[in-house]
Amino acid sequence: MTRTIYYTATSLDGFLATPDHSLDWLLSQAVDPAGPMGYEPFIAGVGALAMGASTYQWLLDHEEKWPYTMPAWVFTHREFPPPPPGVRFTGDDVGGIHGEMLAAAGDKDVWLVGGGELVGQFADRGLLDEVWVQYAPVTLGAGAPLLPRRLDLDLVDVAHNGNFLCGRYRVAR
Ligand SMILES: NC(=O)c1ccc[n+]([C@@H]2O[C@H](COP(=O)([O-])OP(=O)(O)OC[C@H]3O[C@@H](n4cnc5c(N)ncnc54)[C@H](OP(=O)(O)O)[C@@H]3O)[C@@H](O)[C@H]2O)c1
Repeated sequence: MTRTIYYTATSLDGFLATPDHSLDWLLSQAVDPAGPMGYEPFIAGVGALAMGASTYQWLLDHEEKWPYTMPAWVFTHREFPPPPPGVRFTGDDVGGIHGEMLAAAGDKDVWLVGGGELVGQFADRGLLDEVWVQYAPVTLGAGAPLLPRRLDLDLVDVAHNGNFLCGRYRVAR
């Protein structure tokens, strides 16, 4: 059954990026992408994904080519250049788009890439099933928040991968 999963890395004090959207503190950390709760086994199970405009802008600025093969939705009000194939821009309510994502994902999972406020919009509508977090051994003091909501979660699994403490949580209904 398809799950809607927020899979991300964070600083210990709960930030996805510095205030100026740097991920240097994260990308310098040792991790085994094929290891426990690693990116490779995770992305193999993803059939559709969504992200906000700042995350999309980061990818445009730092990746040579679009890194995903599955259908992707970018929530934005901005004017971007025409998107890569399979990417669509939307300013619609997340509830309707979630239905489209489920249909596109088939029997695979839906990945909410971030940021935290966008994921919060899905959580507000009861559409978030799981949160997978890799905690980097860094505090940032400020930045883009992990998930700016009150949300109760059940701890399902833990792992140690490189420099990261990894937790998998199920959203308590
Ligand atoms: N640590 C990690 O693994 C990780 C994971 C993901 C992201 N990141 C980084 O964390 C930062 C996240 O940035 P962020 O907190 O600003 O979040 P974001 O979700 O990437 O971008 C926020 C923007 O998305 C647009 N947006 C959000 N909800 C919308 C909606 N319902 N309809 C239309 N547009 C909507 C708005 O932009 P406009 O209205 O201006 O278009 C909003 O300002 C980025 O630097 C990203 O690279 C890190």
